[in-house]
Amino acid sequence: MENSLIIALDFTNRKEVEQFLQPFNQKELFVKVGMELFYQEGPDIVHFLKESGHRIFLDLKLHDIPNTVLSAMKGLARLECDLVNVHAAGGKEMMSAAIEGLEAGTAAGRKRPACIAVTQLTSTSEAQMNKEQLISGSLEQSVLHYASLTQEAGLDGVVCSAWEAVPIREKLGKKFYTVTPGIRMGNDSTGDQKRVATPEFARNAGVTSIVVGRSITRSKDPVKSYEKWIEAWESVQV
Ligand code: C5P
Repeated sequence: MENSLIIALDFTNRKEVEQFLQPFNQKELFVKVGMELFYQEGPDIVHFLKESGHRIFLDLKLHDIPNTVLSAMKGLARLECDLVNVHAAGGKEMMSAAIEGLEAGTAAGRKRPACIAVTQLTSTSEAQMNKEQLISGSLEQSVLHYASLTQEAGLDGVVCSAWEAVPIREKLGKKFYTVTPGIRMGNDSTGDQKRVATPEFARNAGVTSIVVGRSITRSKDPVKSYEKWIEAWESVQV
């Protein structure tokens, strides 16, 4: 989990995933399956990726009443992914229920998937948060609050932007995972992301893992692009 670059497989079907992975020549990757892909292909896509030797972050961002999240996580644990997630806005009881579900669904003797919570989406700006969610104060305050709540609920870490990683680590310790999307190289388009950072900035901030989507998946040569990203990510000594 530590120091990983996770590729967001934001495709809509298995064929596109296979086409993307083919030039990697069976290299073992850490990939993220989000709702876009999972809602079309279902658990089979996870089985396929696992059988191909990849580590998997199943990014379904659960957010529902505690009982529903508990049952859903029990089922997801059986897919034996490495990492799953919920929205911290669902509250402490819901997050604890997620862990309970994961533990109940994990076979005896096996390790449950790690579970992290989304704090504020990296596509959310402070102005949006203030106006649309009616949360006053700074984005960092909100993210730190959600991160503390997440730790109290017994989860392993959070999804946040690289900008919040330093205060989170200072407050909650280095073992608490910070997984950061919204990562861009100098010239990449930011798209819908607002709180973006470079891989070097993220590494210096001590984040656990970065999630990179379109900059790799939509590039003309994804393998070359992936290698360039790994080089940038690993260029900073930790
Ligand atoms: O293409 P890009 O690099 O922006 O992709 C980022 C990925 O991370 C997407 O799959 C998106 O769903 C996910 N993500 C995010 N912000 C969060 C949680 C997940 O961008 N807070």
